[in-house]
Amino acid sequence: MVRKRTVKDILAMKHDDAGISMLTAYDASMARLLDESGVDILLVGDSLGMVVLGYDSTVPVTMDEMLHHARAVGRGTKQALVVGDMPFGSYQVGVREAVVNGVRFLKEAGCDAVKLEGGQEMGEVVRALTRAGVPVMGHLGLTPQTAGQLGGFKVQGRDLASARRLIADARALEEAGVFALVLECVPGELARIVTGAVAVPTIGIGAGADCDGQVLVTNDLLGLFDKFTPAFVKQYLNLAPQIREAVAAFRNEVAAGVFPAAEHTFGSKVDFASILQDDQEEGSNG
Ligand code: KIV
Repeated sequence: MVRKRTVKDILAMKHDDAGISMLTAYDASMARLLDESGVDILLVGDSLGMVVLGYDSTVPVTMDEMLHHARAVGRGTKQALVVGDMPFGSYQVGVREAVVNGVRFLKEAGCDAVKLEGGQEMGEVVRALTRAGVPVMGHLGLTPQTAGQLGGFKVQGRDLASARRLIADARALEEAGVFALVLECVPGELARIVTGAVAVPTIGIGAGADCDGQVLVTNDLLGLFDKFTPAFVKQYLNLAPQIREAVAAFRNEVAAGVFPAAEHTFGSKVDFASILQDDQEEGSNG
C-alpha cells in the first residue's frame, strides 16, 4: 500500500540521513513515472512556461495554465507530495489575492502545498496562506520571476551583504511558517550555513550537496530540454537526440510504406472483400 507523503513527513526528513528528492512535473504520464520511481515531492513548477509552453521566461505563466497542469499531475500521482508553484502576479498584488490563489491550488487542482518566491517581504503572505490552511514552500537565492531585478540568471549571495540578507530571509520565512525552502543558485558554503540556521528542510538547485534535499527540472535531468542546460544540472539521460532519431525513423518508414506492418494491423474473420463484390453487383444492376 502506497502512503501519500505529507508536509509533516517532509519536515521530519530534515533529520533523516536520506535526502529529500524533488522533481518538476507538468503532466499526468510523467508524474506517474516519477511517482512510481519514489520521488518525495513533485513540483508543478512555473518552469512550465519555458520547458512546456515555449515562453522565454516564467513571467507570462498564468494561474489558469498552472491549475490546468497541476490537475493533470495530481491525476498521475499517488504517493509524492504535490506542490503547485504560484505564478508571477498571483501573490504579489495583495495578501487577499495571494490567499485566494493559494487556496485554488488546493481546492481546484488537488495540490498539497504551494511554492512562492521571495524573502522577508513575503512574510505577511506566507503567514496569511498558512493561517488559511495552505502549506507554503519558500524559494530564495535566484528567483526566476524577478531575475531581471537580480541582474539576470546569476549565482546569488556571493558577497557578505547579500549572504547575510539571504540568511535573514530564510529565518524570516521560517518564522512566517514555510515548511521547506528552495535555495537556487547560491554558493554551496552559504547553502550549508542556511541549512544549519533553519529548522525546516532546505532543497537545493545549484546550491551544493549540503542542503537537506535536491530538486531538478525533470526535462533537464532527462535531456529533454536542450535549448540550454545550466551548469548545475546533471543529465541522467540524453533523450532529445534519441527522440529526434526515433521520430525521423517513423517519418521515413511512413514515407517508405514500411509502417504499419502486418503485426500493427487489425485482422478480421469477416470477408470484407464481399462488400466490394456486392457494391460492384449493385453498380452493374442499377
Ligand atoms: O519552476 C521551477 O521549476 C522551480 C524549480 C527550479 C525549483 O521553481
